[in-house]
Amino acid sequence: MARLLARIMAAQDGWARPLGDFNHRWLSAVFRPFRPIKDLLSGTWLGHPLHSASTDVPVGALLVSVILDLLNQPTAADVALLATVLFMLAAALSGAADYVDTDGAARVRATLHSTLMVVALVILVISLVLRAGGPADRMVPVVLSLVGFLIVSAGAFVGGEVVYAFGNMVSRHAFRGPGTKWIPLDSGDLTDLSALPLATPTRARAGINDLVLVRIGVTVHALHAVCAHAGGPLPQGKIVDGCIECPWHGSRFRLDNGQVTQGPALYDQPVYELRAAEGGGYEVRRAAT
Ligand code: FES
Repeated sequence: MARLLARIMAAQDGWARPLGDFNHRWLSAVFRPFRPIKDLLSGTWLGHPLHSASTDVPVGALLVSVILDLLNQPTAADVALLATVLFMLAAALSGAADYVDTDGAARVRATLHSTLMVVALVILVISLVLRAGGPADRMVPVVLSLVGFLIVSAGAFVGGEVVYAFGNMVSRHAFRGPGTKWIPLDSGDLTDLSALPLATPTRARAGINDLVLVRIGVTVHALHAVCAHAGGPLPQGKIVDGCIECPWHGSRFRLDNGQVTQGPALYDQPVYELRAAEGGGYEVRRAAT
């Protein structure tokens, strides 16, 4: 069953890829001038993706509406359907904000997800309009709602794939716990960190972790080099207002504590304590959050 569903979804890639690229272009143009609004919709302020939270309400409301239709409670069913449509529109906004920073295979699958949701939304709006006319026979709008519910369910399944199979909007440091051990810092040929170029991200290594070092005055900051949002290379980023900015989608993290100050990242960046090692050189330890 799992393989069959995977094949059905993959079979849509042919049209979803160019449509996704097209949608990405115009949505980026719409959101680019309004970055704080995009961050608000993505959930950077909440430290949690707003889209995943905002989709629960319309799915639940639609199920309630379908059940009330089947129980022949027309007024309550219509109110629940109206709530469904309104909350679907709100969820679409947060989804569009995330979509702008979704790349590659995840974007292709997200395009299938969003297309299913838009088709369902159109069907549900038609059902709502028909209901508003107070028809004597409610068969058509009720059937439309049922069809809409099935498409929403399929769309929700595909949306889950975007997160669970493609890791979209998942912290890249989800499995990296705080460490208590000091680890030798490998900064290549650079043996004296006071010689680091000022405000210039520099790659280093500590055990299995890639780090980025940034010297501001006499202080050297060390953060994990892999952006918490989608794995962008922070050593290729730039320093802005005491933060390091990721070159891929522009997330910013404070140098002193890794706190995210600009999305699309939702989660803070791991930072490391740095000290001179007794036998020479330096060592680092993941700072407690
Ligand atoms: S990878 Fe997206 S902002 Fe860094």
